[in-house]
Amino acid sequence: MNTVLILGASRGIGFEFARQYVQEGWRVLATARDDEGCAKLQAVGAEAFKLDVAQPSSVSGLSWRLDGEKIDLALYVAGVMDRNSPQTPPTQQAFDELMHANVLGAMQALPQVAPWVAEAQGTFAFISSRMSSLALTDAGNAALYRVSKAALNMVVRTAPFDFPNVTCLALSPGWVQTDMGGDAAPLTVDKSVAHMRATLQAVSGAEKRASVQGQFLNYDGSTLPW
Ligand SMILES: NC(=O)c1ccc[n+]([C@@H]2O[C@H](COP(=O)([O-])OP(=O)(O)OC[C@H]3O[C@@H](n4cnc5c(N)ncnc54)[C@H](OP(=O)(O)O)[C@@H]3O)[C@@H](O)[C@H]2O)c1
Repeated sequence: MNTVLILGASRGIGFEFARQYVQEGWRVLATARDDEGCAKLQAVGAEAFKLDVAQPSSVSGLSWRLDGEKIDLALYVAGVMDRNSPQTPPTQQAFDELMHANVLGAMQALPQVAPWVAEAQGTFAFISSRMSSLALTDAGNAALYRVSKAALNMVVRTAPFDFPNVTCLALSPGWVQTDMGGDAAPLTVDKSVAHMRATLQAVSGAEKRASVQGQFLNYDGSTLPW
């Protein structure tokens, strides 16, 4: 049985990943920040435990929690949005909150989780955003969010040097109908996640690693420019 670990799965894209992988017969380990989120995940058949990615003391217990696991797929999904443009620079508090969830948590989770993914020669995908692409930037809205996801992309680029037996990817889900994406988004969460699962399946396995290692993929499997 395949095992997937989903970090940040209380709602939205992370929850849908948990739901669909359980339905496909995977063993699903999924995290939420509170008991309510964990109960929701358990109700759909996931093994849930509490994790706040923005709290180093919480993330530092991950490796211990995963001891002995073989993780075929790890997904860093937790994320926070800020919609301000460069005209309204972030307060220190807003900067810290967003950068801690979107970047620090990913950097701290990587060495805690990657060794257990390496055991399965698996994949560690970090949910980034098309809005992080320097090449595709055509607006200034959500500047801090774009900065944070561009930083997350560099986490993906540097990770393979220390974890060569793990396929490391940045993955854009598209613009998706969630609390973050809003109702106007063109993609439903089930469609986005179904596409991402197919994309992840297509690149899984050590033999495919060289062709996708450290890449930025769109939900449909196409490559995005950094
Ligand atoms: N929706 C889109 O159109 C879109 C587009 C591009 C990229 N993304 C990315 O996709 C990912 C999921 O977004 P979404 O649309 O599903 O957003 P969402 O509905 O707002 O869900 C955000 C998730 O992140 C979790 N989270 C936030 N801070 C956390 C922390 N400190 N520790 C643990 N979990 C934390 C939330 O948990 P709580 O319930 O505890 O708050 C929630 O489960 C994010 O990384 C986002 O940037 C989304």
